[in-house]
Amino acid sequence: MGGFVSLGFAVLLALVLRQLYRVLRGNPRTPPGPRSLPFIGNVHQLPMEFHERKFFEWGRQYGGIIYATLFQTPVIIVNSAEVAHDLMDKRSANYSDRPVFPLLELMGWTNVLTQLRYGEQFRKHRKWIQDAFQSKAALKSFQPLQRRETSILLSSLVSSPEAFADHFRRDTAGTAAPSLTGTLLEEHYARGGMTAQAEDEIRRLSGTIYAAGTDTTVTGLRTFMLAMVRNPEVFKKAQQEIDKVIGSDRLPGFEDREALPYLDCILKEVYRGMTRNETAYPNPEVFRPERFMGLTGTEADDIDPRRIIFGFGRRPV
Ligand code: HEM
Repeated sequence: MGGFVSLGFAVLLALVLRQLYRVLRGNPRTPPGPRSLPFIGNVHQLPMEFHERKFFEWGRQYGGIIYATLFQTPVIIVNSAEVAHDLMDKRSANYSDRPVFPLLELMGWTNVLTQLRYGEQFRKHRKWIQDAFQSKAALKSFQPLQRRETSILLSSLVSSPEAFADHFRRDTAGTAAPSLTGTLLEEHYARGGMTAQAEDEIRRLSGTIYAAGTDTTVTGLRTFMLAMVRNPEVFKKAQQEIDKVIGSDRLPGFEDREALPYLDCILKEVYRGMTRNETAYPNPEVFRPERFMGLTGTEADDIDPRRIIFGFGRRPV
């Protein structure tokens, strides 16, 4: 028994010494990053919420690419859009894979797009999404549904504005046609290609899109609401633009989008809120749609937040 205890102690001591050696020596081949502790790495420095604020702080100290460890897992934090473009767009073949997350798998999140390794199944699911959402014709086919849902949302907001968060949630969830699920099921049945596996894949992809699309959209709507309440002068300018272009006899439609440039800048600024890049967006804490006005086509493209916020390389939707 005594032998076991001292063997255990020796192993523990060796592990501690190895960790200590690594910490003191640092690793010249990894990007800069905060000093880590043995065993736990940098976990103790991360807050329970809003990790991104810590990453931002580290970014100021260590730059656009940072190395940290979470327990024994090495982590690279990409902290600048430029580095993200360089790595994930320009070298997307290297960076489109996913690690295996055992906990998610235990929770049943297997064969879902967000976790799929880069390969055949991934490409198939991406194609299903592309066909459903990314062509102009496909997007147009959703417009009647979007119009109908928007009218319902607006009348709910008029009758009980205080429940706006519930209305936003209802607006983004629910059943509807056309839908990716319906189209995929129809296509498979029509081709006689429906199998238990195909059905399972469609089910998982639909669930993933629902999960990926609802909270993000609700967050966008809520951020917009908050921005309008906190910036009444912006709200007033948007209202004036709508009154001038649309008048008060009808609601704006998709066809009016081009004629409402200030509204477009507001939407960009809502999206932009997710980045605090001070070079591209001076005074990033201020909600200022005007930052997107009066730019040349190239300038506008360069700082269009939609180039950043949906992710990079081969995986954003
Ligand atoms: C403001 C709204 C949204 C934001 C900011 C957003 C952002 C993102 C980001 C950052 C990623 C990760 C990309 C990567 O892994 O590199 C992603 C992935 C994804 N998003 Fe969104 N998203 C939004 C709305 C939506 C909507 C409405 C849908 C569906 C209708 C959707 C479906 C997905 C899916 C399926 C993925 C996983 C793609 C993959 O792993 O290949 N997202 N999104």
